[in-house]
Amino acid sequence: MNGNQGFYVQDGYLYCAGLSVKEIQRQVEHSPFYLYSASQMRQNYRSYENALDQIPAVISYAVKANSNLTILKILRDLGSWVTVVSGNELRLALAAGFESKQMILNGNGKTLHELEYAIDVGVMINIDSEFDVKHLHQISQSIRKSVNVLLRLNPDIDPAVHPYISTGLQGSKFGIQPQQVEPFLQNLDAAPLLNLVGIHSHLGSTIENVDVFCQVSAVMAEYFVMMRERGFPVKYINIGGGLGIDYQRTRPGFAQPEDVVKAIQRELLDDAILILEPGRSLVGNAGVLVCNVIGVKLGETKNFIVVDGSMTELIRPSLYQAEHQIAFIEPVVGPVCESADFLGKNRLLATPDERIGLVVYDTGAYGYVMSSNYNGRMRPPEYLVDDGQLIQIRRAERFEDYLSLFDM
Ligand code: LLP
Repeated sequence: MNGNQGFYVQDGYLYCAGLSVKEIQRQVEHSPFYLYSASQMRQNYRSYENALDQIPAVISYAVKANSNLTILKILRDLGSWVTVVSGNELRLALAAGFESKQMILNGNGKTLHELEYAIDVGVMINIDSEFDVKHLHQISQSIRKSVNVLLRLNPDIDPAVHPYISTGLQGSKFGIQPQQVEPFLQNLDAAPLLNLVGIHSHLGSTIENVDVFCQVSAVMAEYFVMMRERGFPVKYINIGGGLGIDYQRTRPGFAQPEDVVKAIQRELLDDAILILEPGRSLVGNAGVLVCNVIGVKLGETKNFIVVDGSMTELIRPSLYQAEHQIAFIEPVVGPVCESADFLGKNRLLATPDERIGLVVYDTGAYGYVMSSNYNGRMRPPEYLVDDGQLIQIRRAERFEDYLSLFDM
């Protein structure tokens, strides 16, 4: 299904868009590292683009999924907008060449500095709370600049995902509850420099059942009509991101962008401009974490393949019990071994020799961006295969970088 755009196995060897990962690993001389396929990202973007062909719509990549500058530039070249969640993500997007009118600032705790910066640059801002309205009103008055805003609504719909990444239920800290919308509109009426141009919602992440996109669109369409009737010139309906990816890599019927768009389309109003904010489904399957086997530890009940990658580089398995597929980059024969440290549990893998390469699949989203220096480990480098070429798109963090943060 992946074709040779992304990662695939041929004669027992793993390839990334035409290049052997074993060969890449030899060249890189650093382990672990993240490896991405540019063509897979482009293909993912085009699936959204094709699905949205007949609809006035914007694809706004959620930078939080992977904020590598080169990756941002690839998406910019494809025509994407970006959704950012901090002043620094906004700075990065500017550095990648996005224009202010292609950016949306989202967030539950936007600081005064971030808001001032965003208004100054001229990006669209999601309002998430009463204090957001107050702060935006104050700042826009003091710098005498108007700002386009979207109202983030909490539609109370269950996306059926891990509770840490579920954001559209009543108890969630995100968005405005239905009964609070009217007072918000009154406050916006009284803030002449805040232009309400649309509504926003984001239900959660790793969504598999696209029916929830249909449900949320119906709710959003009702609010949209109500706001128009109240005299607000709204034009955008932003449904957020959230489409999951097939982490098991074995489910041919897994929901695709076109399924999301079909679900939304059933409820969407003709004259609204749809915004989608995918993160994971644009970059997730376009990346792997490449590690090396350090050794195999035989236990009483299970064996451990100990590798040089860990929760420091990839926290999803430990934080969300996420299950990423794990495989060797070359044929490994030998007795079956059970586990690969804590990047995966209870897996059946052959017992590898030391220094055999191993990949954790589908780590292009929320991999590097959530890495840390836990256990005194330095962040890994990132590589990209683009047009048959291997390029380093971020160097490895060095111990000297780390030490330089201390005043000595
Ligand atoms: N828009 C908004 C407002 C968001 O909060 C998010 C993600 C997205 C778009 C993109 O969602 P996506 O299409 O990537 O699902 N660290 C977690 C994921 C947290 C997602 C938070 N918000 C993980 O590793 O699964």
